[in-house]
Amino acid sequence: MLAFCYISSVAKRKMTNFDLFFYMFIFFLTIFLYYFFVITRNKKSSSQRKGYKLPPGSMGWPYIGETLQLYSQDPNIFFINRQRRYGEIFKTKILGCPCVMLASPEAARFVLVNQANLFKPTYPKSKETLIGQSALFFYQGNYHMHIRKLVQTSLNPEAIRNQIPHIEELAISALNSWAGGHVVNTYIEMKKYSFEVGILAIFGHLDAHLKDQLKKNYSIVDKGYNSFPTNLPGSPYRNAIQARKRLGKILSEVISERKEKKLIEKGLLSCFLNAKDEKGLVLSEDQIADNIIGVLFAAQDTTASVLTWILKYLHDNPKLLQSVKAEQKAICQSNEQENHGLTWTQTRKMPMTNKVVLETLRLASIISFTFREAVADVEYKGYLIPKGWKVMPLFRNIHHNPEFFPDPQKFDPSRFENVQKPNTFMPFGSGVHACPGNELAKLEILIMTHHLVTKFRWEVEGSNSGIQYGPFPVPVGGLPARFWKESTTST
Ligand code: HEM
Ligand SMILES: *[C@@H]1O[C@H](CO)[C@@H](O)[C@H](O)[C@H]1NC(C)=O
Repeated sequence: MLAFCYISSVAKRKMTNFDLFFYMFIFFLTIFLYYFFVITRNKKSSSQRKGYKLPPGSMGWPYIGETLQLYSQDPNIFFINRQRRYGEIFKTKILGCPCVMLASPEAARFVLVNQANLFKPTYPKSKETLIGQSALFFYQGNYHMHIRKLVQTSLNPEAIRNQIPHIEELAISALNSWAGGHVVNTYIEMKKYSFEVGILAIFGHLDAHLKDQLKKNYSIVDKGYNSFPTNLPGSPYRNAIQARKRLGKILSEVISERKEKKLIEKGLLSCFLNAKDEKGLVLSEDQIADNIIGVLFAAQDTTASVLTWILKYLHDNPKLLQSVKAEQKAICQSNEQENHGLTWTQTRKMPMTNKVVLETLRLASIISFTFREAVADVEYKGYLIPKGWKVMPLFRNIHHNPEFFPDPQKFDPSRFENVQKPNTFMPFGSGVHACPGNELAKLEILIMTHHLVTKFRWEVEGSNSGIQYGPFPVPVGGLPARFWKESTTST
């Protein structure tokens, strides 16, 4: 490619015979070197001399591999068919990348926990550009641990329990805005709620004007995440890059205001601003901004899709809805008598609702798999995972394996009364990159469910039971539904 550009750029000059000879020489040398490197690389990476063979599986067609097969059918069927044919570990090729897929709890643990140092996180360049290259999930090692500790501290139970009244306010105001019987897109509405909770966890209180600017610009970035990454003017990706630059400016404004007025707020931003690493270095503004955008990104669509599935499953299982209602109404009544809101202890004692949340995380498995890249040739159970290959622990396959979850397609919260086999339930991942927001996610889900079932009823529009990927699986159309406020005297 490079050689080709070079040749065409000089072709405009008058060519002598010598020039021609010289360029032909360069041209063939390039081809020769290309084959030389490709062949030697292949030789090196197939360390079959050690007796290790590549995992079974089909690499499909040249370059595109099995991309068409993956995208032309339900991705779950793609994975499950291959798991049936080849077992817990198999190879394939997606979008030009050779991949090893891992469908057993032990294999997932091997990659994410035991040998995590041999597998680095890997994301498409376009995502990295939009979020910001210093966000923690692109790293492993010291920098990752340093940022991760700060995120964990600001999201641990001690820190988030004080936010309960504020999260309740957000849930109630969201619900009130849907009530009245008009059709709302549940997923889009849940995204607004999870965004607000994210802002709360990051900034504590944030000036309404700045929050509005942040929201509007972030929604442009959000549209860019899943669009084709072309930098043509007017394309969603280009717009997203520009909005991302404005987000950086807004965040830097927030930061200088906090420094100037010595504002003391709880939340992740304060943790970042006060942080020093072991050498006493503070974080740069870019590092702070990239990680804030990163947390917003990790927090919003995930939580919103889980909430959307909960509404669907409860709607489809009226008996379960009744028992969740009973559990939540009992809490509601005692709180009304004593005149206070939900307490942390109460959110820990919602056995029925909690099982519904866990079963939703399992059945919906909104993070179906994750990606890592082998940083060296790695051997697993006699198979070779060559350096540079992607590896994909398939959470959904594990969650839908009848060996661990009998009758896996059935929504049955009571299965969580039993203890799970180790590593068979990983909705929040595992190991050094496991979700640091899991407690907050569960808390905001429980709070929303509490107010939903105690004060509202809802009906799902239409009977379409399909799944849509945006990019996480959600019910088709984002679950259009109508909401009504129930008169409180009816019980
Ligand atoms: C139900 C909702 C959520 C689910 C299912 C979920 C799931 C996950 C999973 C599976 C990972 C690991 C990905 C991997 O190993 O490649 C992860 C990472 C992460 N999540 Fe969540 N998440 C949720 C909500 C949240 C929330 C609310 C926040 C923050 C407020 C958050 C922040 C993060 C961050 C920062 C990471 C990267 C951690 C690291 O690389 O060390 N997540 N999440
Ligand atoms: C985005 O942020 C800028 C400030 O950097 C602000 O002027 C603008 O109104 C915001 N909203 C949109 C939709 O761009």
